[in-house]
This record gives sequence, structure tokens and C-alpha cells, in this order.
Amino acid sequence: MASRIAAGEVVERPASVVKELIENSIDAGASEVFIAIEKSGTASIRITDNGAGMSAEDLSLAVERHATSKIKKDEDLFRIGTLGFRGEALPSIGSIAKMEIVSREPHNQAGFSLRVDGGKKSEVHAAAAAKGTTIDIREIFFNTPARRKFLKSPATELNHICDVVNRMALGHPLVHFRLQHDGRNVADYVAVKDPLDRLQQVLGRDVARGLKPFSWQRGDLTISGYLSSAPTSFPNTRYLFSFVNQRYVRDKVVTHAVLQGYDTLLMKGQYPAVVLFLDVPFADVDVNVHPAKYEVRFRRQSEIHEAVVGAVRQALKVEARAPAPYAATAMASWGAVREAPLPYFIPPARPRVDLPDGAAGVALATQPTSEAPERYQSGFFSSLHVLGQILGCYLVCVSARGLTLVDQHAAHERVAFEKLRAQLAHGSIDKQRLLVSQLVDLSGGEMMLLEQKLPLLERYGFVLEPFGPGSYAIKSAPALLPEDDYTQVVKQMVAELAEVDASDRLRQHLEDRLATIACHSVIRANRKLEMTEMRALLAELDKIEFATQCPHGRPVLVEFSSEQLERLFKRIV
Ligand SMILES: Nc1ncnc2c1ncn2[C@@H]1O[C@H](COP(=O)(O)OP(=O)(O)OP(=O)(O)O)[C@@H](O)[C@H]1O
Ligand SMILES: [Mg+2]
Repeated sequence: MASRIAAGEVVERPASVVKELIENSIDAGASEVFIAIEKSGTASIRITDNGAGMSAEDLSLAVERHATSKIKKDEDLFRIGTLGFRGEALPSIGSIAKMEIVSREPHNQAGFSLRVDGGKKSEVHAAAAAKGTTIDIREIFFNTPARRKFLKSPATELNHICDVVNRMALGHPLVHFRLQHDGRNVADYVAVKDPLDRLQQVLGRDVARGLKPFSWQRGDLTISGYLSSAPTSFPNTRYLFSFVNQRYVRDKVVTHAVLQGYDTLLMKGQYPAVVLFLDVPFADVDVNVHPAKYEVRFRRQSEIHEAVVGAVRQALKVEARAPAPYAATAMASWGAVREAPLPYFIPPARPRVDLPDGAAGVALATQPTSEAPERYQSGFFSSLHVLGQILGCYLVCVSARGLTLVDQHAAHERVAFEKLRAQLAHGSIDKQRLLVSQLVDLSGGEMMLLEQKLPLLERYGFVLEPFGPGSYAIKSAPALLPEDDYTQVVKQMVAELAEVDASDRLRQHLEDRLATIACHSVIRANRKLEMTEMRALLAELDKIEFATQCPHGRPVLVEFSSEQLERLFKRIV
């Protein structure tokens, strides 16, 4: 009974079994892992690998609790390089299901088999077997009906299994994974040398096309992977994958750092697509903190957080100067919003050379991050040939690659925001004295708040002085702001700053405030711009980082490459 309770920690649902078994196959050095399930794994799960196999003795030990071949000495526990290390998985699975293992070591003629039925172990028998191991699990939870009741719908359980296979596949591109459900192929990811090809197999071409490689290294810490540059974004974290030493993890520190790296580039509630590989010395990470090993603990947590933020930011900076065509990435985000019952499509395995030349996202992605395409590095916006302005707010331009539309409002906002950010970084925002001071009427509570926030407001360019009971006079305002009534902006800022106490939130709030000011400072839409004004605006964009999004995350430019135009006109498919 005790073993069945413990098993619950490891085996929550059929997908947990699939995960544990794939991990064992990978630890056994398999280059092929085939999974066949029936009825979403509730009827049977069979996994076949071509790994190192087990001797008769190993096989008998493998299903004993705490029998692991992966930890030999005590010190090994502190530098775990394998996915498994506890010797828990097989005994746990064996206690809540009917299991048969058949295994043969490559150098042995004979193979062996063993059965475990609800925790009862049989003798080891000689058996005909291919090299490697096959494990057959039937009737999961047959002796724990309470657990069976907690299973979700077959579609949900199947989805969990697909997720497990996909994550494992992303982390191990050199391994061929195949998943069959009720006799049908659900996924077939042949081994690939280039991890980008694995991204295409698993995430689909549209999402993969929008992902750019990055890598970062300092001392014994390496961070690499692929990330989407905005405007590609998704309504949830479903395309965020992090791996620590090739182990998929859901780590709050890493996820937080990734999102912080994106900073103001994404709208609230929008998430990027990121596949991040973090490599740290085994001794610096504790992987034994979660029953399903989905969480880890870092010894140098803040250093890792900082490194991930830095790596993501650096990658995005390069990308911001090499905007990817918009239409293709936009399609990717629509694709993600639609929830297909089985969102895993199996593209035929294709060598990279087959990709159309114009698939710019992919072409860019093959270049190392450090070499951003030169032709965009400086002066991309100034190099645009402006045709004119339409609808009072879009600049229509020709670029070397095709057609570019620039949202003048978003562009202005980004320029103003970056200027403000630079000024703030050097002390405070440039201010101008108002000819006529403006009065802000405040409630008692607001008065107190405002008093506390006066120094902060001054850094933002607003100088206020008391003016009789219940009001303050605005004496100066940020120089970038056009002449206007500032009382609402000030009231809004006071209210927003009231919520800020914790220092880590302060930075985020400061940026939000800058965005508020930037938004007030810009030319409204529907204003006709002279050609010189348009050119000046584009030249300003070249001077700043992250020029491709407004501070609220809206895109500044939308590009149609010649290939996309040809697609639109059905000249190519
Ligand atoms: N597919 C396989 N090929 C070869 N050996 C295997 C395979 N699956 C399991 N084993 C052997 O069986 C042992 C027990 O596996 P089990 O998954 O229970 O424990 P573990 O992987 O060592 O640790 P954990 O409980 O953390 O997964 C392993 O240490 C390994 O020696
Ligand atoms: Mg294991």
C-alpha cells in the first residue's frame, strides 16, 4: 500500500509514465524511442528503444525500489548528469499497473523478460529480443480506482502525452521519436543534426520560422536557444520551453528572467516563443526537489536570473535591427490562438536546403546571432524609400526586401520612450517651465501620496508646488510633452505610483510611466506629415534600440517581403 501511495507522486497520469520511460531510454543512450499508446495511454503504453539494454541481473534489480544504476558513489548525488537518479520510476509504475519488460544488451545473444503486476514481481526469463529495451504497461491504475477517477478526458490525457514527447524531442534532436496512438502516427520526429530542424518538426514551420538562434556564454554558464522577436506573440506560455542541462523544467526563475528580457516589447498578457537551453555545472543545480523532476534549484540563482535576462535582451537587440517579415510571423500567432484538438502536425522531414529562398525568417535564423545582417544594422529606416502617407497614420515605404509600412504613432512613441529612458538613466527627464502653472485639485489621501512622490515626479520632469489647501500647482513638465493640460497625467501617475512599494516592481512601473508620457508626447494619428517630417522620424528610429515595437508592444513596422507579396498574389504557393 505504501508503495502505491508513493507511486502517486511519480505517476500522476499516463503522461507521467511516458515521461519516466522516455527518460530511461535516453539515459540508456538510445537513438530511437518509439512510443505506442492505446486509449490515450489508459489501456496500454509500449515504449521501445535501441539503448544499452539490461542484463538478467540488472533487470531484476531495476524494478526494486531505490535500485538505480546511475548513482554509484555518494558524491554522484551532487552532480547528476542523467535524467533519472532515484531508482523510483519503474517500481512506482510496476505498483499501479501491469508491466512487462523485455531487454537485451547489444553484446548478448539472449534477451530477458520480467513481469510486474501491481507490485508483484515475476522471475526473470530468457526471451527473444531485439537490442535495447521494450516496456509494456497495461491497465494503468487498475488497482487504484481513486486515481483512475482523477484522469481527465481522453483528449486531455493524450495532449499531456504529446506535450511530454514534444519536450523530450526538443531537448534531444539527435534522437528519433515516434508516437503512435491507436495505431496512428501522431508524431514522427526523425533524428536531426540541427536543433532548428527539430523546432520545425515539433512546433511547426510557422512558429519555427519566427525563431532566431541566440547564444551567450560566461565562465561555466552557457545559455543558448531560439526566440521569437516581437511582434510574434502568443496568448499564453505554451511556446516557452526551458531546459537545464537538457532536462525540461518549469522554473520560475528562468521564466521570469526570459519575460523580463522581453521587457516592454510585448503587450500585457502576451508571451513570446522561446526555447532556452541553460547549461550549468551539474554541481550547481539540485534536480531532486520535485517528484516529477519538473523543478530545479540553482545554487547561484540570482546570477542565473541576470544571465538569462542579459542573454535574451542581447539577442533581441540584434533582432530589433533586423526585423523579420511580419506577415509570416503574424500567421504563426493566429495559428496558436486556434486550439486544435491535437495541435501537433507532422511535417515531412525536410532537409533545410529545400526551404524557399525567400523564407527570410529561416534564412536569418541560420546566421549566428553575433552577425546581424549588415544591411539592416545601421540606417535601415533611413534607407527606406518613402512613397507617402496613407490613412493619416501609415508611412508606405519601399525597402530592399519589399514593402514596409510604418505606424507613425507607434514609431513616434518608441522614439520618445527611448529618449525619455535615456534621460532618466542620466538623472532625470528634461523639463520645461510652464508659462502658466496648472492647478491639480486633490483629495486628502492624494495630497499625502503626492507629497511622498514629489521627488520621483521631479525625476520624471514634473515639478509641483503646494498651492493653498487641497491643491498643487504644476510648474514644469517634461520638455518632450507638447503643450497641453497635464493635470490628468499627473493624477494618473500619482495613483499608479501609489501601488509601487516593492523595489523590483518599481522598475517595471517606471517604464510604464515613461510609456504613459511617451504616449502623450506623440503626434496623434490622422495628422498629415510632410516628407521632411517622415524622413526625420525614420532617421530617429535608426538612432534607438528596439525600434520595431512601440513601448506598449505594438509593432512599429510591418513588412511584406517580395516572397510574401508573391504568395498573396498566388504567384507561388
Ligand atoms: N530503457 C532502459 N534501458 C536500459 N536500462 C534501463 C531502462 N529503463 C530502466 N533501466 C534501468 O533500470 C533502472 C531503474 O530505472 P528507474 O527509472 O526506476 O530509476 P532511475 O532512472 O535510475 O531513477 P528515476 O527514478 O529518477 O527515474 C535504471 O537505473 C536503469 O539501470
Ligand atoms: Mg528513470
